[in-house]
Parts: sequence; C-alpha cells; structure tokens
Amino acid sequence: MQILVCGGAGFIGSAFIRNYLQHNPNSKITNLDILTIGSSLENLKEIKNNPNYSFIKDDIRNESKVDNLVKNVDVVVNFAAESHVDRSIVNPKPFIETNILGTYSILEAIRKHDKQFIHVSTDEIYGDAQGQSSFDENSQINPSNPYAATKAAADHLVSSYYRTYGINCITTRCTNNFGPCQFPEKLIPKTIIRALKNLKIPLYGDGQQIRSWIYVYDHVQAIESLISKGKPGQVYNITAYEEITNKTIVEKILDILGKSHDNIEYVEDRPGHDKRYSINCSKIENEVGWKSKYEFEAALQETVDWYLQNKSWWEPLIDENTLHPQPWTLSRK
Ligand SMILES: NC(=O)c1ccc[n+]([C@@H]2O[C@H](COP(=O)([O-])OP(=O)(O)OC[C@H]3O[C@@H](n4cnc5c(N)ncnc54)[C@H](O)[C@@H]3O)[C@@H](O)[C@H]2O)c1
Repeated sequence: MQILVCGGAGFIGSAFIRNYLQHNPNSKITNLDILTIGSSLENLKEIKNNPNYSFIKDDIRNESKVDNLVKNVDVVVNFAAESHVDRSIVNPKPFIETNILGTYSILEAIRKHDKQFIHVSTDEIYGDAQGQSSFDENSQINPSNPYAATKAAADHLVSSYYRTYGINCITTRCTNNFGPCQFPEKLIPKTIIRALKNLKIPLYGDGQQIRSWIYVYDHVQAIESLISKGKPGQVYNITAYEEITNKTIVEKILDILGKSHDNIEYVEDRPGHDKRYSINCSKIENEVGWKSKYEFEAALQETVDWYLQNKSWWEPLIDENTLHPQPWTLSRK
C-alpha cells in the first residue's frame, strides 16, 4: 500500500504515520506538509530514516505537485488544515485558503487518477448539540465559527465530488483529540504547560462547555480501519468517552499535577462558542468494527507524563497564543 499523507507533520497526522508504519512496515508513506505553526518534524524523528517514509515540504494548494504525488499512490489521507478556532476568529482567510482550496486541489487529483481519498473532518461542523441529543452522520451541518465553516465547506465539496464524479472517498468527523505532540495552544497542552509554569489557567466563560474527547491513537486507528473497511461515499463519526465540561478536564489535569483549582481564572467567553458537542459513532462501530480501546483517565495521565518528559519539544513552540488568556483578542496578523 502506498499512501500520501497531507499534513503529516501536525499532531494527528504524525500519530497516524507512526501508528500506520508500525502496523504495516511494508507500506510506503509520503508526507506532504508545508510546516505551518502547529507542525513539527520532531514528531516523526523516530521514523525519519525509515526507507518507507519520505517527507516533502509543499502546499496542498500546489495543484501540479499534488497531482504528481497522487498519481503514484493508492490512498490519500488529508490532515492538512488550519486547525485552531481561536486563530480563525482573529483571521479567517488562511482557513478559507487551506481548508477549502486545499481540499479542492486534492479532490481534482483524486478524480483524475481515481484513487481512494480519506477526508479528515471534525464534529465541529455540526455546531451546538441541544438538550441531550447527539448528532449522527445524517444530522444537519450548522457550523458556528470560521474554522468549522471552512471544514463544513470542504465536507460539502467532497460529497459533491462523490455524487457528481463518483470518486472513492470517505469523510471522518472526529471529536476533540488529545495526546502527545499536540501544539501548546490547544486546551489540554495549554493547561499542562501553564500549570507547570505556575501561570493562571484561563477558562472561557463559565467553563461549562461540554466536549467529548478521544485519545489520538484511537482516532488514527479508526482512520486505518476505514482505509480497508470503510464504504465509499460514506461519512463516519468518531468519538470515545463520556462528555465532560472544560472545567472538569482542567481540574483533572491540575489534580494529576498536584496543583490547586484556585489556579483557574474565568475569562470572557470566546465569541460564537459552542456550548455542547455530542456525536454518536455507532455507524463506524457496527459497520467497520472499530471501537475506542484506551481508557480516559489512563490516556490523560499518559499525556500529562509525555509533556512532563518532553519539555524540549514544547518549550520552543511557546508563543503569545499560549501565553495569552484570550488569543482571539490579539491583533490581526
Ligand atoms: N485536533 C483535534 O481535536 C481535531 C479533531 C477533529 C478533527 N481534526 C482535524 O484533523 C486534522 C489535523 O488536525 P491537527 O490537530 O493534527 O492539526 P495540526 O494543526 O496539528 O496539523 C495540521 C498540519 O497541516 C499542515 N498544513 C497546514 N496548511 C497546509 C497546507 N496548505 N499545505 C500542506 N500542509 C499544511 C500543518 O503544517 C500541520 O502540520 C485537521 O484537518 C483537523 O480539522 C482535528
């Protein structure tokens, strides 16, 4: 199997590459990544000399480059995206360019060369879940922020290419991920790092926003299963644990680190902030046979331990977005 992974130097893409090559040592992976903020080739240092792995620094919007690479593989898995909601509130334009035009560039090569395409999307495209209900794959899409809107636009493009051109595609909509190598500005690493630096931990609004979480290795295993067992043209939700408030998850991390909950500081809420995300993933469990296997508390402990042991990975990546309690208030760059 030959795979083109786009965005493989980021948090989830690098976990996919490490995991996939471990399970399929004879497969070949090419990683196409432009190395924006959020990426690090350090995430792949353990396989950088593996003859079945190669890295190309380029943009998924480079249509001729993408065309040339897609021609020579069996599958394309696209993780490449502008991925942080707070940044999309400051400046939506790069999100429109990469998440929509980048997906278009890959889709054009997929339809020309008739290859399998795994489009990695997010549960954020559904928007707020009301009451106790959960979204399934047929629920209406209702994105609340520019990041989610650009991901939703890409989902629509993918389904239109399936309907119009009959491409071989699968869309995944996963919930919030956590684990090693997640960029410091996201909630869990930001909480760990700020707690270690004895800084206040900002919680947006009342901290009662509800999210469900998944350990990154469960997510990438789901994608691996879909490559061989997913049905073309289908969307699959992916999630793992019970829903939990942002306040509770921050408190759990402070408990692991032996820090007081008094370190929490409530700050003005993020504009357009969704109150609750909730998805149902019975489709992938029943049709594909994938099920999450990592226990939440153990995976969270492992994640905290990883940040404790890998200060040299995150220290150089700290910027004003990690240090600022409300990064969307930073001036537009
Ligand atoms: N992090 C989550 O909780 C989560 C949940 C569900 C879905 N997702 C989706 O999973 C994917 C990966 O998310 P992540 O958290 O690993 O993000 P990330 O920001 O860590 O990684 C994204 C990668 O894409 C690369 N990239 C960005 N623009 C590019 C371009 N124009 N050309 C080539 N490469 C480019 C970056 O350099 C980076 O390595 C995204 O599509 C995201 O929407 C993330």
